Amino acid sequence: MRKSSILVVDDEKFYRSSLQRILARVGHDVSQAADAGEALAMVAQSHFDLVVTDMQMPGVDGLQLVAEIHGLRPDLPCIIVTGFGSPESSVEALRAGAFWYLEKPFEQKSLDVIRSLVEQAIEHGRLKAENRNLQGELRFRYRFDSVVGTSAPLRELLALVMRVAATDSTALITGESGTGKELVARAIHFNSERAERPLVTVNCGAIPEELLESELFGHVKGAFTSAMSHREGRFSAAHSGTIFLDEIGDMSPNLQVKLLRVLQDRSFEPVGSSETISVDARVIAATNQDLEKAMEEGRFRADLFYRLNVVPIQVPALRERREDIPQLVEHFLAVLAHERGSELGPMSDEALEVLCGYDWPGNIRELENLIERLTVLGGKGRIEASDLPASPFRSQTPRPSSMRLPSEGLSLRAEVEQLERDLITQALEHTQGNKNRAAKLLGLNRTTLFEKIEKIKKKGLSEPA
Ligand SMILES: Nc1ncnc2c1ncn2[C@@H]1O[C@H](COP(=O)(O)OP(=O)(O)OP(=O)(O)O)[C@@H](O)[C@H]1O
Ligand SMILES: [Mg+2]
Repeated sequence: MRKSSILVVDDEKFYRSSLQRILARVGHDVSQAADAGEALAMVAQSHFDLVVTDMQMPGVDGLQLVAEIHGLRPDLPCIIVTGFGSPESSVEALRAGAFWYLEKPFEQKSLDVIRSLVEQAIEHGRLKAENRNLQGELRFRYRFDSVVGTSAPLRELLALVMRVAATDSTALITGESGTGKELVARAIHFNSERAERPLVTVNCGAIPEELLESELFGHVKGAFTSAMSHREGRFSAAHSGTIFLDEIGDMSPNLQVKLLRVLQDRSFEPVGSSETISVDARVIAATNQDLEKAMEEGRFRADLFYRLNVVPIQVPALRERREDIPQLVEHFLAVLAHERGSELGPMSDEALEVLCGYDWPGNIRELENLIERLTVLGGKGRIEASDLPASPFRSQTPRPSSMRLPSEGLSLRAEVEQLERDLITQALEHTQGNKNRAAKLLGLNRTTLFEKIEKIKKKGLSEPA
């Protein structure tokens, strides 16, 4: 068996040292901690194969320590040293999640007994970790299904995601807006060894600069005028899990320095405090900005860029993988059918062709919004090309202001109905379906808008204009 590293925790130096001697004699690397706090800090910072802790210690006792260790490292086996002739405490030890207990005085136990106990505990931890990995792999395959698409660029992306998920490296996800950067970040976390631990997302672009620092690192009471009490930061919340820093390109230079420090030292100080906090959080960052350009312009620190860009992940734009469009349409229609009972769909080949020919500057989010927009009015059945919104899909339809009467004439009623339908749909979309606000936007009273919607519904969305 390879040399394992064992942490021995006891407030009494005599017992610590004698355990250390015994364990070293059976061939392991042994470190010591004098109390639970020290032990936890060591477990957070280094790798151990086993913890052997005394049960009775002032402050946090061995039972509680084991629970806290398992919060941090669920697979790390622990052995609790109990007092002589106290069967209740051995039961308590096992209940607290210890692998086994070791009764004092252990000096009189044969070395073979201790060696075998230690080896069994370490093997148990190894199997637990392995089992978790296998489960993670299963989950990975399962969750893979929620990422729709089979195009070559998407398959490449997913293969990369799989490789990155198996490591603990920092990753930088880039791509245009709406391409699925957040989805990729989630896929990495949920398929990593940290899947059972928290995934904390911080949108660096959405939080005002003055607040972002305390949001990330926390603050102490009185750190600034509105800091009425102590607050834990998002980095602490992400401890043992993953922190996803979205829109990293928007972070101010001042904060970029602090983030660099966390990536380098894995530690930080809350705002207004001089206490250094260690953190074990995997960092995944994303941006739709060109960070290399931002570096040239001095808006983004090069040292931070290289720290983040350990594994670069470029999410392709939708127009680079148009083959995925039909599947995505089907997926979003199915989601809306499931979530809102929509009876819209499927989409005609002609309509799909229009969508596949479009450039999608807003990428998958734009496609998702389109499908949602088509269901807002409760349309049913097949979606024809003529059901697609005039802008941007039927640009041949002139805008009313510039509309010229074709020489063969037109149906004024049909044109006006079409315009009305488009504007009502837009208003409902704008107000997330709130009919009162939509009516206001259109300068109509509620009842009139209701009547118009009913009329449109009756005619059905799929009926060509
Ligand atoms: N391959 C995919 N399959 C299914 N849904 C997807 C896929 N990619 C993205 N989506 C969906 O598209 C939407 C946009 O994705 P996401 O929020 O991850 O993009 P983003 O790149 O973070 O966008 P932004 O730059 O605007 O923040 C989400 O609703 C997401 O679930
Ligand atoms: Mg995003």
